[in-house]
Amino acid sequence: MSEWFETLEGLRARVWQRLGRGVADRRAPARHPTLATLGTDGAPEARTVVLRGSSEAAGSVTIYTDAASAKVAELAREPRATLHVWEPKDRLQIRLALTVELRTGASLDALWERLSPEARRAYGGRPEPGRPIGDPVADYEETRERARFAVLDGRVERIEALHLGDWHRRADFSRADGFAGAWIAP
Ligand SMILES: Cc1cc2nc3c(=O)[nH]c(=O)nc-3n(C[C@H](O)[C@H](O)[C@H](O)COP(=O)(O)O)c2cc1C
Repeated sequence: MSEWFETLEGLRARVWQRLGRGVADRRAPARHPTLATLGTDGAPEARTVVLRGSSEAAGSVTIYTDAASAKVAELAREPRATLHVWEPKDRLQIRLALTVELRTGASLDALWERLSPEARRAYGGRPEPGRPIGDPVADYEETRERARFAVLDGRVERIEALHLGDWHRRADFSRADGFAGAWIAP
């Protein structure tokens, strides 16, 4: 019996299993991946997000965001992004190369209805995210705005997995060949 990290299939299965765990379990490492984008000035940007959905069958991941946030403007200009996760117990780094589509409007009504008032705090707010304010309490108002709720649909183009063990193993899985995968030098 080989260990999960010794085969391409095992490695790929573990990646999707961990992403699924992140969606389901608030304490799982993949709950809070880092989303990297190309800033509008050409410099890289990275921020923590919550992983809201993942599908191995579709090869996709889902993130919720505020339509007025900088990342939305960045993704409108350059839809390619990277999602990064480190799974310490598995000693596994996951990098997903994504093409991100922004979803807004009526198709999100059902999702919005399911969000708690607490969760809705993340969408809306005056002034808009990133604007300078004199005082963080007095000069900011939460608005919980349905129109500012947006979903980022990430189509996974490539998965790169790096496992650190007695022997380091690194593999690349590409949508082009159905994520069959190939080993690459670590
Ligand atoms: C634990 C944690 C979870 C977060 N989850 C999200 C999220 O799911 N979506 C989101 O847009 N921002 C989330 N944020 C805030 C982002 O990290 C970031 O500060 C904000 O979205 C503005 O980023 P931007 O200016 O690059 O768009 C989270 C921050 C933390 C610390």
